[in-house]
Amino acid sequence: MFNSVKVTEDIYWVGVNDRRTALFENLWPLEHGVAYNSYLLVDEKIALIDTVEGGQVGEYVRKIQSIIGTHKKIDYLIINHMEPDHSGLIQSVVELYPDIKIVGNEKTFGMIADFYGITNNTHLVKDGDEINLGKHQLKFYMTPMVHWPETMMTYDQSSQILFSGDAFGSFGALDGGIFDDEVDLVFFEEEMRRYYANIVGKYGAPVQAALKKLHGLEISTICATHGPIWRSDIQKVVSLYDQWSKCEAEEGVVIVYGTMYGNTGKMAETIARTLSEEGIKNIKIYDGSKTHMSYILRDIWKYKGLIIGSCAYNNNLFPPIESLTSKLVHMGVKNRILGIFGTYSWSGGGVINLKKFAEQIKWPLIAEPVEAKCAACGNDIDGCVMIGKQMAKALKEA
Ligand code: FEO
Repeated sequence: MFNSVKVTEDIYWVGVNDRRTALFENLWPLEHGVAYNSYLLVDEKIALIDTVEGGQVGEYVRKIQSIIGTHKKIDYLIINHMEPDHSGLIQSVVELYPDIKIVGNEKTFGMIADFYGITNNTHLVKDGDEINLGKHQLKFYMTPMVHWPETMMTYDQSSQILFSGDAFGSFGALDGGIFDDEVDLVFFEEEMRRYYANIVGKYGAPVQAALKKLHGLEISTICATHGPIWRSDIQKVVSLYDQWSKCEAEEGVVIVYGTMYGNTGKMAETIARTLSEEGIKNIKIYDGSKTHMSYILRDIWKYKGLIIGSCAYNNNLFPPIESLTSKLVHMGVKNRILGIFGTYSWSGGGVINLKKFAEQIKWPLIAEPVEAKCAACGNDIDGCVMIGKQMAKALKEA
């Protein structure tokens, strides 16, 4: 999309879509692309809020110049977040507008120097500082670790727009629609949760601190750096972030397993059928070798129950399950209920390490873990049924 889009009379979306990159942070799948959002405020003074990822300088500059022409200067470049998906064109912007003042906090400027070698024309702001553009009065809120230490948000007091950085952002390119009332909200809510679970989820406490700091602010619109602009139901979006950052979850179960020959997978089917017979409707089964962890984490952030199975693999967990469990520990996910199963084969290593995971993550473990020798039979199947029954009971009592 070569056109910029008006957010208000004098505030423009000048973001770009990326449908080429396969993996965000070279790690998380971008099946439906991603948008890097940047915003231009045209007042007596002109401000650009964040830039975009480094690969699309031509389109980005064309959008800006289609609004202000080629002779006007931009006065301020406000850097809410330094991750290169947003800071990637700082150097190009500075080359095009050599007198531009870069607005950021102390941590921002350390990073700009380290990433891009830029140390001149900086304008340092602290929590609560303001900049006047003419009609627009911008106020800065320091929101460290949402998602990096330098992260801050910019609030325009005249339009009541919050420029929120990664917070409230989502995966998914903007296919024509830019505002939440122009897009498929079901898709973007899923992609917003996936972005949260993959990128921001480790920082639940800082997100809570940011929400407390912003509490009471009149917000008409949220302009995040990814995904749609939120203007229809701000309370709902804020409430989702509140729930996710407190690790609150809905009734439902994710069953994820690692299997070489299908035997551990069959145990998952028995557990799932029992859950269904016990009245649980939201059940998601994933083969950890087939589905990228990104999507499994997205659903773990949604549902209260997690049942993990692993075959033994060289005396250890099956590798995708090892990655998933270590990621969950690393992210410090809380408030979940856990079930465990697997197969021993000739060495063991699956279930024993899942038990260690349970101790590390400190979630309540429902029912006895089930470990079949090679293929589940007799007591193993009874054990799987018991896991399903106990999980359903625990969820209903939660
Ligand atoms: Fe979208 Fe933390 O960068």
